[in-house]
Amino acid sequence: MTTSTQLIHLYKGELSVVVSTRGNVPAIVYWGSYLGESQLSDAMFLRPVLGGGIDFDAPLAIIPQHHDGWLGIPGLEGFRTDAGAMFAHLQISTTEKSNTAATFVLADKHAGLEARLHLQIDASEVLEVSATLRNTAKTAYNLQALRIALPIAASANELLTFGGRWAMEFGEHRTPWRDSTISLTNLRGRTSHEKCPLVFAGTNGFGEQHGEVWGCHLGWSGNFEIIADGVTEHHKHLLASERLVAGEIILQHGESYTAPTIYAVHSSNGLSKASQQFHRFARSLTQHRKISRPVILNTWEAVYFNHDFDTLSKLADAAARIGVERFVLDDGWFTGRRNDKSGLGDWTVDKTIWPDGLGKLIQHVSNLGLEFGIWFEPEMVNLDSELFRKHPDWALHDVNYELITGRNQLVLDMSREDVREYLFASISNLLDTHDIAYIKWDHNRDLVSAGAHAQTLGTYELLDRLKRKHPLVQFESCASGGGRIDFGILPYVDRFWTSDSNDPLDRAFIARGAKRLMPPELLGSHIASRTNHITKRSHSLAFRASTAIFGWLGIELNLLTATDDELVRLSDVIARYKILRPLLHYGNSFTEDHSDTNILVHGVSGADNQQTIVSVTRTNSGNSNHIDSIRISNLEPGSSYTLKPIYFGEPAFAPHRELPQWLTKQSFVLTGSQLQQIGFICPPLLPSSSFIVMIEKVVS
Ligand code: DGJ
Repeated sequence: MTTSTQLIHLYKGELSVVVSTRGNVPAIVYWGSYLGESQLSDAMFLRPVLGGGIDFDAPLAIIPQHHDGWLGIPGLEGFRTDAGAMFAHLQISTTEKSNTAATFVLADKHAGLEARLHLQIDASEVLEVSATLRNTAKTAYNLQALRIALPIAASANELLTFGGRWAMEFGEHRTPWRDSTISLTNLRGRTSHEKCPLVFAGTNGFGEQHGEVWGCHLGWSGNFEIIADGVTEHHKHLLASERLVAGEIILQHGESYTAPTIYAVHSSNGLSKASQQFHRFARSLTQHRKISRPVILNTWEAVYFNHDFDTLSKLADAAARIGVERFVLDDGWFTGRRNDKSGLGDWTVDKTIWPDGLGKLIQHVSNLGLEFGIWFEPEMVNLDSELFRKHPDWALHDVNYELITGRNQLVLDMSREDVREYLFASISNLLDTHDIAYIKWDHNRDLVSAGAHAQTLGTYELLDRLKRKHPLVQFESCASGGGRIDFGILPYVDRFWTSDSNDPLDRAFIARGAKRLMPPELLGSHIASRTNHITKRSHSLAFRASTAIFGWLGIELNLLTATDDELVRLSDVIARYKILRPLLHYGNSFTEDHSDTNILVHGVSGADNQQTIVSVTRTNSGNSNHIDSIRISNLEPGSSYTLKPIYFGEPAFAPHRELPQWLTKQSFVLTGSQLQQIGFICPPLLPSSSFIVMIEKVVS
């Protein structure tokens, strides 16, 4: 061990991160609330050396190493075929630092490895940690894992993780975390529906507005592993990394590997605040500043693969009449794509369906004053396609074994330049020759028998190139719904398709989970048919609209079969959404705890605190039709507020004789502190219904 000691204090706003360089590799010894300018000393963080073990207290380094006495999962694993077992012996060689960032170069001269470790607190108070490893020796180095370790305070006894399945993403899972280790491993080759690279750790019973919370997200759209180790050496910590398959990364002399960046947030006041920091970070990326987010009509659940000019142009007419601003032609427009068995890869307009090309429809849409968007699934190929017949070697499969298809398709090898070139030319050509404002970029199957590293970088590279060539075109990341929602792909896209389930009851849960990471305006949220095509449940338009407006709104139903009444009501929803859009898209999104687990409360507060919109959803029936008061935190305690309901149709009140007085009286004012301490009386709600309230500050 080196004997010189040094602490580096990084801070911004309410956050402090203290890094010790006492060991060979820097270690984060504190990550939490701002510590002020007081003097910090090493002794504050040195634990006693215990008997029966290594003769010093091993630090939890950012890249933990066995050589440094750490006996848990190491940060760096790899080998050379011409050497025996290899353990990393990285040591700091240079350090650069400011108040918000520190960069360390670490080297292991004997093993021929060099690492660059960078920590940075950005303007949104999100801590970013990134690492790059370089092979400086002559022989090849097989990298197995490069993990980053973040310490979590001992008081964080609970974990919140997310996952689910297709059409039910972002389910929240709470687990106790004491003397136990929990690992999330994703090998599906995309971010996945099943597991999310997102973990929050918090103090006992942490909630929406209370408790200390640490959040960690791995910005990566491929395979990953997050391990929450609550056992090793009594150092609670998270280890986050890309999950590599054996032999996936072999670094030749001079080559390097960059691990996905980790984004970490801390809050002393519950989950909502932690998520708001993730939101601020997402919003800080250039293309997510105040761009226009037009109301979309997506054709998928209206016509599926049944494309024809007459129907689609009439659909566009109906969409324009109700106030839609962008028409998105989904799957089914390209050569041979009459169902999901053929066509993927042949990105030319199908002449049998569109004898005059797409120009006529696009012109029609644009004459109506709408923008035009189109669907692609670039990384995929059907066996029944010209592309596969011509280039079977472009697909990721081993010719020695049986083919494994998913939705009848194979995955293209995105690491190949010729594949990317073909896709770039096909997509770019369509964008060059048509007036297209938006691409929905889908990815409908998992990867098997292949690593996802080069695949993921290949996709990022293609998106980046397209984005640079067509800077005004917006892209949506879709992967059978919400299978690719993460900060890795975020710099290249403008929107995420949150889920294939447009069922409002499912959405109440899916959106709640997705908003733990992404701000609402990036999450596509569509009003679909009364009877949902996946869950077969029926829901009122009011409920469908009340959940959908809290995202980037779209309509996804066949307007040509809608009744006149439905059309009038949809246009009313869209008109009111447009008025609320600045608040919904640029305000602070929050959630509130509620005593009844059948009641979900969330909302958005305007940046200037003048308006706060709150949604209360009853998911299921409960033991009582009374709903405990809805308490709203973070309003100005001394200011006065009025409350007004927003109805998107008949209110879904449970049987009652009288409603709360604030709903029936002309003027009813509550102060910010009353709303926080007492709350407002909630009317009785039917199951599967939402009630929306606008809380407005009284300007004296
Ligand atoms: C899956 C997407 O999530 C749907 O919205 C739709 O685009 C279909 N793919 C089309 O194949």
